[in-house]
Amino acid sequence: MKKLVVTGGAGFIGSEVCRQVIAQTGWSLVNLDKLTYAGNLQSLATIESDPRYEFVHGDICDRPLVDAMLARIQPDAVMHLAAESHVDRSITGSASFIQTNIVGTHALLESTLGYWKTLSTDKKDQFRFLAVSTDEVYGSLGPTGYFSETTAFDPRSPYSASKAASDHLVSAWGHTYGLPVVISNCSNNYGPYHFPEKLIPLMIINAMNDKPLPVYGDGSNIRDWLFVQDHARALRLLVEHGRPGETYCIGGRAERTNIDVVTALCGLFDPIRSRPAGETAKRLITFVQDRPGHDKRYAIDSTKIETELGWKPSVSFEHGLRCTVDWYLANRTWWEPIINGVYAGTRLGLPVA
Ligand code: NAD
Ligand code: DAU
Repeated sequence: MKKLVVTGGAGFIGSEVCRQVIAQTGWSLVNLDKLTYAGNLQSLATIESDPRYEFVHGDICDRPLVDAMLARIQPDAVMHLAAESHVDRSITGSASFIQTNIVGTHALLESTLGYWKTLSTDKKDQFRFLAVSTDEVYGSLGPTGYFSETTAFDPRSPYSASKAASDHLVSAWGHTYGLPVVISNCSNNYGPYHFPEKLIPLMIINAMNDKPLPVYGDGSNIRDWLFVQDHARALRLLVEHGRPGETYCIGGRAERTNIDVVTALCGLFDPIRSRPAGETAKRLITFVQDRPGHDKRYAIDSTKIETELGWKPSVSFEHGLRCTVDWYLANRTWWEPIINGVYAGTRLGLPVA
C-alpha cells in the first residue's frame, strides 16, 4: 500500500485525485491544503471520514509544518498540485502566484529533499515527487502544430511564468540533488467541482441564471479540453510508473474554439430551460474586451504518456460536457455558497486604466 502526500487536494483537480485514490486504490493519503479562496472541503465530503484519508490545513511555504508532516507520514510519494491557478487573477495581482507557485514549490522541494535523504536506498529509488503543471508554460501556438515534451518554454502570463519557474526548480532538484522528480504538463481540464471563475463552470452557472455569457475577444482562441477524471487517472499512473527526470505532456485531443464551447453549452441548456418559442440560450452570448496577452491556441501531443503508460482520454468532450452540466444542475449546494460568497462571477484580469 502506498502512502501519498497530495498538496492542493481541496482544489478542482486535487480533490478529484483524492476522491479517486480513496475510491479506486488501497493507498492512504494526506491532503495538505492552505484553503485559499479556491480550496473547498465540501469537494472532499465523500471521503472525509475514510480512515485512509487525512486533511492537514497548512501552507506549502511553511517549512517547519511540512518537515514535521513528512517525517510523521513517511510518504512514498508527493503529488504537488497546490498553486494559484487562474490566469485572470494573475493579471490583476501576481504576488500570490510568485509566493505559492515559485517560493512554495522551492520550500516543498527543500522539505521533500530533507525527508528523502533519510530514506533507505530502496525507498529512495522508489520515491517520486510529481509536479503537476500546465501546457501554458509552452506559450501560444499558431494554427498548426502541437506542444510536446521537447517544446521550448515561452510563458506569457504571470501565471504561466510562475509555473514555468516552478517546473525549472523541480527539474533542477532532480538533476542536482538526485530527487526522483516527474513533471506533467496538462491542457485545460473541466468537470465537476470546477471553481466558477473558469470558462466552463462560469458559463454553465450564468446560463442557469439567464445571465450574460462573456466571451473574451472574438471567441476564436483555442484550448485542448480534458475531462478532470482522465487527468487524475494520468497522475495516478505517473506517480507510480513515471520515469524520474522525465516530463509528460497530457492532453485531451479535443481542441475547440471558445465560441464553440460556449455554443455547445447553450445547445445543452435549450432543451432543459423553458423559453419563449424560438429563443435559445445563445442570445446570452456577449463578446467582451479580450484578456491582455491572451494566448491564441493550446494543443498537446500526448504520444509519450500514451505509448509509455497506455494512458488515453476515455471521455469525449461532448459526453464530458453533458456530465458537467448535469453535475452543476444537481449540485447547487456546492456552487451557490461560492457565488454568494468568495466569487460572484465578476470580470477579472482587465488592466487598470
Ligand atoms: P485550484 O485553484 O482549483 O486549486 C488549487 C488548490 O491549491 C486549492 O485547494 C488551494 O487552497 C491550494 N493552495 C493554494 N496555495 C496553497 C499553498 N500556498 N499551500 C497549500 N495549498 C495551497 O487549481 P486546479 O485547477 O485544481 O489546479 C491544480 C494544479 O494543476 C495547479 O498546479 C495547476 O497549475 C495545474 N493545472 C491545472 C489545469 C486546469 O485546467 N485547471 C491544467 C493543467 C495544470
Ligand atoms: O491550459 C491549462 C490551463 O487552463 C491551466 O494551467 C489553468 O490553471 C487553467 O485555469 C486554464 O487556463 P485558461 O486561461 O485557459 O482557462 P480559463 O477557463 O480561464 O479560460 C479558458 C478560455 O476561455 C481562455 O481562452 C479565456 C476564455 N474565457 C475565460 C473566461 C473566464 C472567456 O472567453 N470568458 C471567460 O469569462
